[in-house]
Formats: sequence, structure tokens, C-alpha cells
Amino acid sequence: MRLCINIDHVATLRNARGESQPDPVEAALVCERAGADGIVCHLREDRRHIRDADVRRLRDALTTKLDLEMAATPEIIAIARRIGPDLVTLVPEKRKELTTEGGLDVVRSHRSLRMSVERFHEKNIPVSLFVDPVAEQIEMSKEIGADMIELHTGEYANARTAEARRRQLRRIAAAALLGRTLGLTVNAGHGLNYANMGPVKKIHEIQEVSIGHAVIVRAVEVGLGSAVREMVRLLK
Ligand code: PXP
Repeated sequence: MRLCINIDHVATLRNARGESQPDPVEAALVCERAGADGIVCHLREDRRHIRDADVRRLRDALTTKLDLEMAATPEIIAIARRIGPDLVTLVPEKRKELTTEGGLDVVRSHRSLRMSVERFHEKNIPVSLFVDPVAEQIEMSKEIGADMIELHTGEYANARTAEARRRQLRRIAAAALLGRTLGLTVNAGHGLNYANMGPVKKIHEIQEVSIGHAVIVRAVEVGLGSAVREMVRLLK
């Protein structure tokens, strides 16, 4: 199973100080050197983390692939078409949300989404749709010409009981099988971490996972000690 790392949180930290560090592009290169198969960043309408210049620099610097996550708005579509990422992942976006809250309603928005998919295909950019593990959404994704789907694993990640987790896992497995049967590439993401990844890894129809928060949290957990030790050594 391939791994793509979402580096939005690195940009959030940079923006908190209004400076240039930590640099999300440098972080992306670290991820690549560590074995990541690709980098994801979300250019939000409010630019709360990743900015236009970051996407351009990532485009130039990466040697794996750049997956640009975005809402299908005219402004962001135009930017994405100009920059030309290796893949775009279309997601629903709400101004006030802390992170993407659910999958696209492809069934309801099929006309506009079909047009968005076509706009990217004109530029030879493949399109992934972030969807809940629901058959109608997956069938409609295929119908409107998407190349891939990313299954929303948030409900699985948030399930509170073992039974609820198993139920969510069955939904994801069935959705992944349907996607593959329809000829779509199937990815998954949201809320995946070191503890809940095991059962997802066994769903062979899922070709790639996209992980952000858990990896950045882990980086702080395993990296903070050495950062402090380095400063202590310097002060001696
Ligand atoms: N996939 C999509 C479509 C997302 O919006 C996000 C969150 O930015 C992720 C994956 C990664 O989620 P997490 O940060 O919980 O790993």
C-alpha cells in the first residue's frame, strides 16, 4: 500500500509565527527521503495553511508526486490548472471546519463535478473524488469520469466500539471492492494513524493512503526529545 503525506500542518505552524520556518517544502522533501510515495497539500479558499507559492514550489521540488487537494471552485480550479499537479483530489470545503468533515455529495453535484473533472482532463490531470464509502457516490464518481476515489475513513477512525469499528471497516472494504470493480483507483484517508492502520492495510483494493495529522503528531513525539538534547548540548 502506497503512502502519501499531507503536509498542511507544517504550513499551519509556519503561519502561526508569520515567518518562513518550518518550510512545508523542506518537510515534503524529508517525507520523500523517508519513503513517502507522494505529498498532499490542501489549498483552501481562506489559505489558512498552504499558500499558492507553496504549491508552485512543491511542484518544482518534488520527485514523487504532488496531490493537490482542493474544493472545486473556479478560483482554485484555475490555479490548479496553471500549476499542473500530478493529481487533484476534490473535497467539500466549509469555511468554519477544522478539517474536511465528510465526502463529496457526487450524486447531488454530479453536473458541476463532471464539468470540473473535464476541466482537469483537458490538462491531462487525473482527478480523485473524496467520497464516503457509499455505493451510489462511488457509482456516480465513475459515471462522471473520475479516475480515482479516496474513501473517507473518518467514521472508521472515530468509531468508539469494536463493533462500530468492524461495521465501518466492512463498509470501507465493500466500497473499495466496488470502486475497483468499476475500474477506479481506490485510495483512502482521514483519521488514519499508527493504531488503526492495521485492518485498513488488509483491504487489498485500497492502493494508497493519505495521512497528515498522525504523522506530524508522531514527528513531534519522537523528535522533541532530540531537539531539546541538541539545544542542551549547545548550551553546555
Ligand atoms: N484525505 C483528505 C481528503 C483530507 O481532507 C485529509 C485531511 O486534510 C486527509 C486525507 C488526511 O487526514 P488526517 O490529517 O486525519 O490524516
